[in-house]
Order: sequence, then C-alpha cells, then structure tokens
Amino acid sequence: MNKHSQRKDTMKIPDNFMWGGAIAAHQAEGAWNVGGKGVSIADMMTAGNYQIPRKITGKIMEKEYYPNHEAIDFYHTYKEDIKLFAELGLRCFRTSISWARIFPNGDDVKPNEEGLQYYDDMFAELICYGIEPIVTLSHFEMPFHLVEYYGGFRNRKCIDFFVKFARVVMERYKGKVKYWLTFNEINNQVSADELHTYTNSGILFKENENKMQTIWQASLYELIASAEVVRIGHEIDSNNQVGCMMAYVPVYPYSCSPEDMLASVKEMEKTFFYSDIHVRGTIPNYMLKTWKQNAYDIEYTEEDLTILKQGKVDFIGFSYYMSKTIHIESTINEPKGMLSQPNNPYVESNDWGWQIDPIGLRYILNVLSERYPQTPFLIVENGVGAYDTLEKNGTIIDDYRIEYLKRHIEQLKLAICEDGVNLIGYTPWGIIDIVSFGTGEMEKRYGLVYVDKDNMGRGTGARIKKKSYFWYKNVIETNGEKL
Ligand code: BG6
Repeated sequence: MNKHSQRKDTMKIPDNFMWGGAIAAHQAEGAWNVGGKGVSIADMMTAGNYQIPRKITGKIMEKEYYPNHEAIDFYHTYKEDIKLFAELGLRCFRTSISWARIFPNGDDVKPNEEGLQYYDDMFAELICYGIEPIVTLSHFEMPFHLVEYYGGFRNRKCIDFFVKFARVVMERYKGKVKYWLTFNEINNQVSADELHTYTNSGILFKENENKMQTIWQASLYELIASAEVVRIGHEIDSNNQVGCMMAYVPVYPYSCSPEDMLASVKEMEKTFFYSDIHVRGTIPNYMLKTWKQNAYDIEYTEEDLTILKQGKVDFIGFSYYMSKTIHIESTINEPKGMLSQPNNPYVESNDWGWQIDPIGLRYILNVLSERYPQTPFLIVENGVGAYDTLEKNGTIIDDYRIEYLKRHIEQLKLAICEDGVNLIGYTPWGIIDIVSFGTGEMEKRYGLVYVDKDNMGRGTGARIKKKSYFWYKNVIETNGEKL
C-alpha cells in the first residue's frame, strides 16, 4: 500500500461502523396495559407542548390524555416497522425494555412471561434481518409502584429491584443481545426539574426537601446499580458489552472572561460526575468536596465502592442534540455574579429552542476522548425535532432533517478520521416518529419514517418513508461517503 492510499484509508469510517436508529419502549410501544404490563412512570404523564409542561397525575384520570398509552403501537406493528428498518439498511437498532412489562410492579417475585416473550420475538425479528439490537435497560419507564411505595431511587431497595430485572433479561436474551445500556441519560436529573428527576429516578419531591442532596443520593444508588449490572452482564456472557448512557450537552463559556471559563468547567463537572464513575469506578474528588461543603449527607458503604470499581463500563453511549453557554453577570449588588445561560449567537435553534451545533459534537468527542482515552464511544441519540408536512402527493420533503443529520455526520467523520476518536457507531434518534419525551407531542417529529398521528393520537397510524429515509439509506450503503 503506498502512502497516498494509506492516507485515504485513514480518512474513512471503519467498515464495521454501526449505523443504526434508536427509539425507546415507552415512546413507541403503546399497549400500556396489555400482556400483563404494569403501569410505568411514563403512563402517568399527560401531553404538553413547548409552553405547557406535561403533568404527572399520580393516577390515571379519565379526562386526561396520556400519549404513551398508545404511542405508535409498535408493540403490535414491530414486524412491519422492523421490515422498514431492514430495507433502510440499519446495521443496529436501539430500543429499551419496558421494566414494567417484565416486573409489573418492580418488586414482584417472578417476572411476567408474556413480557419476556414479547422481547424474545422482537429481538429474533431484528436478528433475522441481521440487525444488531442495542438495548437500554431503563429508559424513563420504571414501574410506577416503585415511585409510590418506595420513593423511587431515593430508596436503596431500588438497586436490588433493578439488578434483579437486569439479571432476568440478560439471562433470557443471552446470545441474542450483546450491547446493553444501563440508565438512559442518567445525568439529566442534575437539572433538578420535576420531569427529569421523576423520569430518571422516580423521584417526586416532598415539601422543603433538600433537592440536591436527594438527587446526588439517588444518582449514586443508580450508579451502584449500573456497576453491579455491568459485572453481572460480564458474568452471564463474556461477550456482553455493557455501557452507560449519558446526555452530553457541552457548556461553553459565553465570553472569554476567566470567570466564565471556570464556570463552564464547574458546570460540566455535574455531567462528568456520572461518566467519571461509570468509566473510572471511583467517586471524583470534586464531588466529594461539593457534598462536604454543602453538608449533604450521602449514604454509601465500603461494599458499594468495591462494586463501583468492579463495574466499569465497556463503552460510553451518549446522546448529543445541542450545546449551551454559561455566563457570570457581575453587578454592583452581586459582585460574585449570577449565573445565566444566554443563547449562543453563533448557532441556530429549532422550534423548541434547542440550539443546533454540529461542531459541538466534534468538540465533545474530542473532550471525551482526552478524558477517557481507553473507552469506545457510541452515539445512541442525535436528531432534530421538527414539524413535517405531509404533501398532497403523500410525500414528506424533510430537507431540514437531512441537513441536520448531514452536518452532524460530517463532524463525527472528522472526529474519527482527523482526531482519532474511537467512535463505533451512530444511531439517530427517533428513526421512526414517536411520542416526544419532553412534551408528549407526536408532532415534534424526529423520524425518517412518518407516522400518521397527531398530538391527540388521531390518524391512521400509517407509515410513510420521508425523503430523509432514502438519503440515510444511501449514507449507510456508502458507509458515510455520500452525505
Ligand atoms: C432524550 C431522550 O432526552 O431526548 C429521549 O433520551 C427523547 O427519550 C429525546 O425523546 C428527544 O427529546 P424530546 O423531548 O424532543 O422527545
């Protein structure tokens, strides 16, 4: 091989790159009370929109609309949908197992066979087309009973419930599923808003509760549970690759003032706390200091610390949608400065205010690669929520989605080929239209396959290939050469 062709080869995405697509059970399956499934936390969430937050009702109210109850009915349509994914050329497909389909209450003695069989059949269908399943164990859908009776992950008993669930499914799908992710976007809860603490950890705050103490405690319990699952996963099958799932939103200093620079580092630590433990197996010093300085009473044992050490992840799965900024505004009254997060004037936003920043993807991949040099990365979510128009001739011309994906794939290529980042795959989010997690809308669409349903669940449910479907098919066929 001459020098020129060697250079050409290193400028290519590796042939075994995992091109795929991603969804989550609660946003797609529907069938919320079918096949012995229990009520999950997602079943208690009403529909909202950009302005109106989703409500968590605590019990099913007749007059409310719960979009996840039916979602896109993937529970019944998975065969046709997977056929579409196969035609698209997906090499892998990420979905989650609904915990409440397997353990309806979370603390049941025995798993629900009908639920186990459903995923057996679904994974078999994927494998039949040569599509590798990537499975999230907990994607915002713990059994609601664990929230009501145990207070979610504020209670360490949930560690055992989760580990038991993971053991059951990892044993059952041994040989079928090799790639596992533990907790979806585990770090989202640091924002301390109700939607994220509830969906990450099943936490509904009590009055006058020290919120941050509760969040750090629940997070640590989840990290312990996750580490134990990594260990068990390897014990069950040495081929298993067990990863974490992080939401990476790079925080840029809004200005080049040293204060803004430091603030951005401090803000990112709230995210890195999670991946540092997942990857390094120890609680980072900066967090031990934070807990001490704030007099947070965080409970853990010597045995927990050993579990963390023994359960280091095989890879980091992460979502990337946007970046944000941080700024310290000093005033005469407030010399130390107030933190704010102004919009970045260099990037655009979508209709829901998410700041679109393709270069931010290359940036965070570089940061991660420096921080975790031995760990492979897998982008398990990336995409843009947008309103689509179904034309009279039955087509959907979603050039804006193609543009978004193209610009992000360009950056991930540069990260692999120029920066040497060990990125093993890319599964864009919402490969098919599903219910939005944040707003509960159907019309905040991410899919490359359109689903004929509106925000109130009205529509035929028909599937239509969008322009982006054909575009992505060609991207996969050419291994990212033709964008
Ligand atoms: C991630 C979640 O936060 O972003 C997904 O893992 C979610 O569940 C996705 O759907 C996009 O967010 P949204 O709110 O637009 O659906």
